[in-house]
Amino acid sequence: MASLTIRKLDETVKTYLRLRSAGNGRSVEEEVRVILGELIQGRPELAGATSSPPSVDSPAQALRPVSTSGERNVTLIIGGGIAAYKALDLIRRLKERHIGVRCVLTKAAQQFVTPLSASALSNERVYTDLFDAESEFDAGHIRLARECDLIVVAPATADLMAKMAHGHADDLASAILLAANRPILLAPAMNPLMWNNAATRRNVLQLRRDGVHMIGPNAGEMAEAGEAGVGRMSEAIEIAAAAVDILRPPRPRPLADKRVLITAGPTHEAIDPVRYIANRSSGKQGFAIAAAAQAAGADVTLVSGPVELRDPAGVTVIRVESARDMLHRVEAALPADIAIFAAAVADWRVANEGEQKLKKTSAGMPQLALVENPDILATISKLTDKRPPLVIGFAAETEHLIDNAKAKIARKGCDWIVANDVSPATGVMGGDRNTVHLLTRDGDDIKVDSWPVMTKEQVATELVATIAKTLGKTS
Ligand SMILES: Cc1cc2nc3c(=O)[nH]c(=O)nc-3n(C[C@H](O)[C@H](O)[C@H](O)COP(=O)(O)O)c2cc1C
Repeated sequence: MASLTIRKLDETVKTYLRLRSAGNGRSVEEEVRVILGELIQGRPELAGATSSPPSVDSPAQALRPVSTSGERNVTLIIGGGIAAYKALDLIRRLKERHIGVRCVLTKAAQQFVTPLSASALSNERVYTDLFDAESEFDAGHIRLARECDLIVVAPATADLMAKMAHGHADDLASAILLAANRPILLAPAMNPLMWNNAATRRNVLQLRRDGVHMIGPNAGEMAEAGEAGVGRMSEAIEIAAAAVDILRPPRPRPLADKRVLITAGPTHEAIDPVRYIANRSSGKQGFAIAAAAQAAGADVTLVSGPVELRDPAGVTVIRVESARDMLHRVEAALPADIAIFAAAVADWRVANEGEQKLKKTSAGMPQLALVENPDILATISKLTDKRPPLVIGFAAETEHLIDNAKAKIARKGCDWIVANDVSPATGVMGGDRNTVHLLTRDGDDIKVDSWPVMTKEQVATELVATIAKTLGKTS
């Protein structure tokens, strides 16, 4: 049987259908069925040739699912505020993102926008009454609350938020919100004085504690002449983006409940108050690993030497200068389940650090005696009580990469080594790409897995995935 795509009808027909269906409180598709049904009833010769068309007035039809194509669906509750007009744009923005929209308008919302506009834009019947015999035949308010993937309230008025916070259900919108078992996203919009009122502040706090998502309000000009402040509803495009974010399937969090300790960057070893010994490490690889571990659900502490990088979101970052500071902060951050030492720690520091700036003198050049710095990787690998179950070191080599890295695993007592060639020609130090070899202990042997050239973010993601896979096997 051929199917009819309403989208492909010509504009005049579509406009007529939209207006007629909205006026009758039906979806466009239902309206087409009614028109065809009426046509056939007027042609007795056809009436017997087919079973009667499904009755669109039957209550069971009134709340059919918005979409049968597996797309995501939103129940959009439009509250009674000036910003209600932006909710019409939001319908369009959600539909552009292949999200089906079913609208509910509060009584007050209908003073600002018409059900007809919402219906024409959503291509769906609009709901306004709790005591609607048609949709309440089968507990329509419960179905509106549950037969969707997300409930968006835009604008979320002070009144609607107060009702939600106190569990009221005396109209369709509040009853849906109380009956919901889906995530709820509020886009508050109101006068700054209403937003800052102690009652609204309490309600907002309560709703956040209840797990309700919120976007905005933004700061800016109010509809009321001469008023400005925080209270403008977020733009439709921002609300649509937040909805898409919530609808996105949750990312796997294979390192949830794991504490990960990471070091990154160089260390600076003072010669005098103004000079220091350093190396070319940018910290990019360690920071990328911290971000990847955090994205995998881990509780991450990053101890970093001096670098020009922003703190990765959700990571506890501790900034240090010297190798000794770094060791101290690493020890203080234990215990951890996994420790990854990506910092390029200076092997030596100046023994006779000047208290004042060293001056040129006729006596000749200052003699800089060097002493060995603490070996952070070896120190932590050899701990007896607080040793993390998985200790990973980095080997930055300029020659005999694999042999040196194998020797390093044995010498330091760590479990894995990520070896990379940092010869100037590779551009690894300070660059955005890395070519690494992962060395892991395999009984008495050491297994070498050579990865192709990747960005430092890709190396980080791959390393975190390998860690998660290994822990998954052993736990
Ligand atoms: C012109 C006008 C604009 C309004 N704008 C807002 C607003 O932006 N935010 C708000 O919380 N209330 C606003 N109100 C008050 C609400 O319309 C009123 O509290 C109403 O009861 C809200 O009903 P609802 O939450 O069921 O939609 C406005 C009222 C009027 C008359």
